[in-house]
Amino acid sequence: METVKLNNGVEMPVIGLGTFKANDPDECEQGVVDALEVGYRMIDTAQSYGNEEYIGKALKRSGVKRADIFLTTKVWFRNFENARASVEESMRRLGTDYLDLVLLHWPFGNTYAAYRDLEKMLKEGSVRAIGVSNFNPDRLIDIIEYNEVVPAVDQIETNLAAQQLEAHEWLVKYGVQHEGYSPFGRGRMDGIYDNPVLVSIAEKYNKTPRQITLKYQLQCGVVIIPKSVHKARIIENLDLFDFSLDSGDMAALKGLDRNAPMTGTPQNPETVIRSLYW
Ligand SMILES: NC(=O)c1ccc[n+]([C@@H]2O[C@H](COP(=O)([O-])OP(=O)(O)OC[C@H]3O[C@@H](n4cnc5c(N)ncnc54)[C@H](OP(=O)(O)O)[C@@H]3O)[C@@H](O)[C@H]2O)c1
Repeated sequence: METVKLNNGVEMPVIGLGTFKANDPDECEQGVVDALEVGYRMIDTAQSYGNEEYIGKALKRSGVKRADIFLTTKVWFRNFENARASVEESMRRLGTDYLDLVLLHWPFGNTYAAYRDLEKMLKEGSVRAIGVSNFNPDRLIDIIEYNEVVPAVDQIETNLAAQQLEAHEWLVKYGVQHEGYSPFGRGRMDGIYDNPVLVSIAEKYNKTPRQITLKYQLQCGVVIIPKSVHKARIIENLDLFDFSLDSGDMAALKGLDRNAPMTGTPQNPETVIRSLYW
């Protein structure tokens, strides 16, 4: 498994399994077991996904050593006043005594209190890296300036329709790893997989359009976490390491950006915040 070195020296796999909406206990557990069996070494979850317990069971069942797995969870913003207790509860559900990466899920509520708790846990060693999610560059720079530890990761929606090219530049500048979520637009990128540019590149490399979108993101320096609970798709989404896109194809794929994320505050701040608070 290829890895990237985070700003604190911790190695993070470049691809992991997403688990948002993997809420059927058996399906989620089996999906994680399958992913570990076929070579995934990173699992992404969050308190708000409600599946940490199923993932904990899968980790145990898989037989893969805990030390070989990179496990990420996220603190829900309503728990930011008590982030430590909340992370400890996640560890209990996941059946682990440490986490590889803990993220503040959204830049809402008392982010400062929560981040200070994470900084303490990092120093104590129960968490190997800390970071943020859904932080646009202004919020990211604020958290960097206001605190001691520079976040290791910012996990933001990134896919062909929302390539986050400007945000990526800021992340590189501040040494924060860009981790992309919803690499397929969670099935909502209407028509993109029929796009003639994407289809012809896929044919050229004898890959599927989805594999091309994932490979494009990897070559842009983005860590990816495609979600599936189906073994054939889990395998397809990992089968990315026997080819490289050339510079002409990279440029053509960059041209598909619509700068249109489904989530994130700049597009519709009121809607996003209200949907989470109420
Ligand atoms: N930080 C955040 O706020 C945030 C927000 C959203 C997501 N995330 C993380 O990012 C992960 C990925 O994002 P996502 O779950 O939103 O969406 P995604 O990975 O872009 O898309 C997942 C959807 O694509 C389907 N799919 C996966 N592989 C496929 C394939 N090879 N062929 C056809 N369909 C395929 C899945 O179906 P099946 O499962 O039925 O195969 C599922 O419906 C999440 O699971 C979560 O871990 C984080």
